[in-house]
Amino acid sequence: MRLPAHLDVREGRLHIGGHDCVLLAEQYGTPLYVTSEDRICELFRGYQKALSGRYPNVQVLYAAKANGNLAILRALAKLGAGADVFSSGELHLALEAGMPAGKLLFNGSSKTPEDLRFAVGKGVKVSVDSLDELHQLDRAARTAGTVAEIAFRVNPALEVPTHPKIATGLATSKFGIPHQEIPAAYREALSCKNIRPAGLHCHIGSQILDTGPFAQAAEVMVRIAKDLVAMGVQLEFIDLGGGLGIPYHHDSDPVLTPEDYAAKVVPVFRAGVEACGIMPELWVEPGRSLVADSTVLLTRVNSTKSAHKRFANVDAGFNLLIRPAMYDAYHEVIAANKAAAPLDSEYTVTGPICESGDILAPDRKLPALAAGDILAVLDAGAYGFAMSSQYNSRPRCPELLIRGGESALMRRGETIGAITAAMQRPPWQR
Ligand code: LLP
Repeated sequence: MRLPAHLDVREGRLHIGGHDCVLLAEQYGTPLYVTSEDRICELFRGYQKALSGRYPNVQVLYAAKANGNLAILRALAKLGAGADVFSSGELHLALEAGMPAGKLLFNGSSKTPEDLRFAVGKGVKVSVDSLDELHQLDRAARTAGTVAEIAFRVNPALEVPTHPKIATGLATSKFGIPHQEIPAAYREALSCKNIRPAGLHCHIGSQILDTGPFAQAAEVMVRIAKDLVAMGVQLEFIDLGGGLGIPYHHDSDPVLTPEDYAAKVVPVFRAGVEACGIMPELWVEPGRSLVADSTVLLTRVNSTKSAHKRFANVDAGFNLLIRPAMYDAYHEVIAANKAAAPLDSEYTVTGPICESGDILAPDRKLPALAAGDILAVLDAGAYGFAMSSQYNSRPRCPELLIRGGESALMRRGETIGAITAAMQRPPWQR
């Protein structure tokens, strides 16, 4: 199987960043998320280099929803990253990680009054999703005695080749304002005393393995920019969102790099803004393509059985990685302790959750497995732990970070106390 450079097989065992996955599983227990900080940093630098080699003013915002661990945010903050935050929680984390408020964009299609007050109080730019929200934000800024800088979230009405649940810029999507109504929205914003329209924002979807749609989105954005400039809006930034996909099928999906993305998108963007006579900052918001392949989820085989087919029952399920159950997503699976053995058996890898849909990987060619074997689920760094739950009252597993020869927990495993901690006894049960 084709592997990225930070993963390799040595003496029959899978290694990540030079660390033996089997030893890590022994030392820290399973299930265990293991993330290579070096890999994330390498990919982030790749985005910076590819974009800034083609356009002078670039800001890479990490989509914090993909993996919100503070250790990852801190590592990216050190490299100069900003963040796309989609909740007050993510905003809180990005600030705590040391990202400057000026490099953050508060996104969201359903913000509360508290969210708006928090963003205004921190001086964070807001991507506004509706005119209703615009007026609420205007009032919040007035109350705070400040002016809120905003972008509108554009719905560019673009079909994209991805799972329908993660296409976000279709004409029918819940996000943003239809592109044809955007100029009117800016006119409205210009009339709000405590609002300063400063940017333009879109995000067309996720796990897109074709650079064409991103160029189409850039075209829509610069076309709109032209109208806005004519109306007197001073555009400081245009944010093209995230969405670049990764090759979950290691041997058959195309591998798209930040370089491919930049080569396709920046010329369209650049020509468009130059035609308007402006030089706004180019913002992008990658999530998955920065963190997905940095991480493996290590899980132990509890038992195997032959029923209508062979099952390998493991200790991680959709409580820890919901993508296969939710999007029929494909993740490669490698037997970490038998990584050089012939793939002469077939298993459906199932989790411990009490649901028939708790299948991590159906019908996979694997070596003959036995209880105690360690499986590595690859590409688990984006929307993995971030979407985990305590379903079936299972405490969440730890997350380990490695850098060079070092390893350290970036989140300890929960105990049953984490499940009962917020529960309360109603007075009539005392
Ligand atoms: N910006 C905005 C406004 C977004 O909504 C998203 C993702 C991103 C950036 C980052 O997109 P990325 O580069 O990661 O594709 N849970 C799903 C993915 C949901 C994506 C939601 N928005 C999954 O596991 O596939």
